[in-house]
Amino acid sequence: MKIIEIPDKKIVYSGIQPSGTFTVGNYFGAMKNWVNLQEDYHSLFCVVDLHAITMPQNPEELRRRTYESIALLLALGINPDKSILYVQSMVPEHCELTWILNCCTYMGELSRMTQFKDKSQKQGENIRVGLFDYPVLMAADILLYQTDLVPVGNDQRQHVELARDIAIRFNQQFGHTFKVPEAYFGESGARIMSLQEPTRKMSKSDDNLNSFISLLDDPKTIIKKFKRAVTDSEMAVYHDREKKPGVSNLMEIYACATGNCLDDITTEFEGKGYGDFKAAVGEAVAETLLPVQRDYHRLLKEKDYLKQIMRTHSEKASMMAWKTLAKARKQVGFVTV
Ligand code: TYM
Repeated sequence: MKIIEIPDKKIVYSGIQPSGTFTVGNYFGAMKNWVNLQEDYHSLFCVVDLHAITMPQNPEELRRRTYESIALLLALGINPDKSILYVQSMVPEHCELTWILNCCTYMGELSRMTQFKDKSQKQGENIRVGLFDYPVLMAADILLYQTDLVPVGNDQRQHVELARDIAIRFNQQFGHTFKVPEAYFGESGARIMSLQEPTRKMSKSDDNLNSFISLLDDPKTIIKKFKRAVTDSEMAVYHDREKKPGVSNLMEIYACATGNCLDDITTEFEGKGYGDFKAAVGEAVAETLLPVQRDYHRLLKEKDYLKQIMRTHSEKASMMAWKTLAKARKQVGFVTV
């Protein structure tokens, strides 16, 4: 039996799928908060390849992207001496707890998930069971580690709510087993929108490459994409998500990249045109990403180091996960000999 003490500090848990290149939406919505929170919390960050295969993936590409994801998270500032950074499929406890939680989750709850409704349309008639069950796997991820806080973007709010409902239901039925987690959203950036259709979320799987900024885009491309970003005809920089979704989105991105507040940004661009504003946003984002890209390309060449992180950190995660899983197994009535 594996035994490890769960640390005294509160626990932060989050994950990202290794599908597509990460965008500034992922960074400002989630990973930037991960980097900050790891200073004060015991943190686990997971590259969720089990989630990725709920949509069709090319196996070689998935493997490559898993390495790239670990390298990019390290380059963004996840500190492997402070946080556990691991790969989901290397910790088998996730699948076992998912099965147990499947048995106390309702079909109706999963049918209401908006992300399932959106993504299932792309799978046509043969919708995979894995896609339907995805939120239960996500609940298992979170609940296995007795998580306090889950830093995510707004699109994951409903999934975290479901994880809470499942934890409460399980605890009521079988006795206290899981901590009930809270979602955590940063002050800005929880909802970064597409540059081309600013009423839709910026997504790494969007077919229109101009709609998102990849964390690996070079400065010229970044500046060009911001220049082409959809705005409006009013020519005034102020924040109003309803009336000015494009400009408001660019302001939020600028706020995330510079740390300036929205009021200061309005003052900075008073009397200036959108040309100046878009150029400033592009430059600020390019400047933020340049050192990250440099570190990423260096780390990607250190395959042995990446493998070592994946191996040792997955072992650490597995030891923590086992402690909760063993309790859940006992509570539902499985035999231990
Ligand atoms: P994923 O891979 O789609 O996205 C990773 C994180 O990035 C956030 N995000 C955004 N935030 C703001 N604006 C955007 N345009 C934007 N796009 C993405 C997401 O909200 C997310 O926080 N199911 C999850 C991964 C997951 C997970 C977990 C998260 C699996 N298990 C357990 C937390 C806890 C997902 O597919 O994220």
